[in-house]
Amino acid sequence: MSTVIDNIGLLVTNDPEQGELTAERANAAVVIDNGVISWVGDAGSAPDADDRLDVGGRCVIPGFVDSHSHVVFAGDRSDEFVARMAGEEYAAGGIRRTVEATRAASDAELARNATRLVAEMRAQGTTTVEIKSGYGLTSIDEARSLAIAGQFTTETTFLGAHVVPAEFADDPAGYVELVTGTMLDLCAPLSKWIDVFCDDGAFDVDQARAILEAGIDRGLGARLHGGQLGTSGAVQLAVELDAASVDHCTFLTDEDVAALAGGNTVATLLPGVEFSTRQPYPDARRLMDAGVTVAIASDCNPGSSYTSSMSFCIALAVRELGMTTAEALWAATAGGAAALRREDVGVLAEGKKADLVVLDAPHYSYLAYRPGVPQVQQVFKA
Ligand code: NIG
Ligand code: FE
Repeated sequence: MSTVIDNIGLLVTNDPEQGELTAERANAAVVIDNGVISWVGDAGSAPDADDRLDVGGRCVIPGFVDSHSHVVFAGDRSDEFVARMAGEEYAAGGIRRTVEATRAASDAELARNATRLVAEMRAQGTTTVEIKSGYGLTSIDEARSLAIAGQFTTETTFLGAHVVPAEFADDPAGYVELVTGTMLDLCAPLSKWIDVFCDDGAFDVDQARAILEAGIDRGLGARLHGGQLGTSGAVQLAVELDAASVDHCTFLTDEDVAALAGGNTVATLLPGVEFSTRQPYPDARRLMDAGVTVAIASDCNPGSSYTSSMSFCIALAVRELGMTTAEALWAATAGGAAALRREDVGVLAEGKKADLVVLDAPHYSYLAYRPGVPQVQQVFKA
């Protein structure tokens, strides 16, 4: 089965072989063959296909790659958001409330919640999503969270080290032993990645190193939450362990930036968090000027960023992080792919997955120019 998408006013390819950064093409067409892009060229000159879709001069972009989400959970924490907007500070401790609700929920309820959020993401143009565990924090609850995550994506991340759960409050070392021992035994086969929340009120650098190394020994890829609440040393640890990504990067020292610039670790910025916690936004310009690869993700979770909208994150990145519209779009597509070390998504070129979005707009700048307005007309996933 093949389809030609014709009369594309502006096509964003992100194809490094075709030009700089977004590698845009005016008046283009794309042919999809069995879920894969088989041809990219000028409008009106595509080879024959079974189907033809005329998009009337609209803009077509790669599907968003949301490389950081926590959508397996139960419960509600809107009261914390309301309190923050009235002046209270964000702290890592709220996670334990979601842990309590998640443990009490049935598998069916957790799956139902995740289904709704992943459907929201898809309708808004996200075609690849990473999903973390981290609200179970027992071996069984982490494993069932990962099994549910695996119903939606191959990008599953074991985050048993999200916070120390209440029952281990007096024995954090015992909890690290559990995470690196029997919990990892149960969760490694269900995960592609391992992650740690390495920050004030969560895990320190030594604990994070032990946990990530245990995961790497089991064949998992490393990623890390770092620099959300302070400069804990997480960023340099991520680079040292060749983590695919270190996420948040709100607080960075000059040494952190230099380490990222010299390494192979993507800096993933999560501006929905700063929006929803009233913290200062990260400085994308500082990172990009130093030569660091930057991604943007939603961090969709009930505590610090309850948005599933990558368009919203792009608008924030443009308005608050110092990114151009092209840089923000790249970071939300090819940047997310880099943060997941994926080469088959985030780029529209021959041989890549046919994950693409038709915008009801002539240019992707409209995602930031018209914030909050639904502009995704059609989503193709392979
Ligand atoms: O990425 N930082 C740690 N984890 C989440 C917050 C989770 C929560 O508050 O429930 C985050 O922001
Ligand atoms: Fe997170």
